[in-house]
Amino acid sequence: MAPPGHPIDPGAPGLVVRDERSEDKPAIHRVTLAAFGTAEEADLIERLRRDAHPLLSLVGESAGAVVGHILFSPVTILGHPGIQAMGLAPMSVLPGRQRQGIGSALVRAGLERCRAIGAEVVVVLGHPAYYPRFGFVPASRFGLRSEYDVPDDVFLALRWCAGEAAPLAGTVRYHAAFAGP
Ligand SMILES: CC(C)(COP(=O)(O)OP(=O)(O)OC[C@H]1O[C@@H](n2cnc3c(N)ncnc32)[C@H](O)[C@@H]1OP(=O)(O)O)[C@@H](O)C(=O)NCCC(=O)NCCS
Repeated sequence: MAPPGHPIDPGAPGLVVRDERSEDKPAIHRVTLAAFGTAEEADLIERLRRDAHPLLSLVGESAGAVVGHILFSPVTILGHPGIQAMGLAPMSVLPGRQRQGIGSALVRAGLERCRAIGAEVVVVLGHPAYYPRFGFVPASRFGLRSEYDVPDDVFLALRWCAGEAAPLAGTVRYHAAFAGP
């Protein structure tokens, strides 16, 4: 794993991916609002910062400015209390900086960090064309179901050591902060 603050993705030259620092909060808020166009995700980030543990929050910094952000928070797999699993959400890149590899650099760095803290599984509710490039597959392949009523192909999971691991059927529940204030 690259040391914190090290430029890690040649696909996004000059980008540094590092842990969120407390002084980044306003910039993360701005990037999230700009990317989503509503305050919903920015508010979710506040709740997760307050309540979720462990929380992985990384920023992408370019020329000293925060241009992207990604968050991973713990999820529960019902029936498997011993499995450490994380959910990717939300993620945002400044609209003017999208499609430059910044999102990909954030996902890759975040996945490395999830693995380093002992997570076995990472799930994401997202676009089926985007996340498979990082190793995600439909979560149903592991017997995992979303707690939300969503099409099968938008609930994705990445499981390390999937070949040797025991089946993992169950419903995945996001942190309570996702349910609202
Ligand atoms: C999703 C997001 C973080 C991607 O960041 P990015 O820096 O543009 O991503 P990258 O440059 O690494 O990758 C761009 C690729 O992702 C694809 N992509 C990005 N968002 C996509 C989406 N919502 N649906 C489908 N494909 C998408 C692009 O088509 C592009 O594909 P290509 O490489 O084949 O051309 C960014 O588009 C964003 O902030 N979107 C608004 C907020 C959002 O929807 N967040 C994700 C849900 S939590």
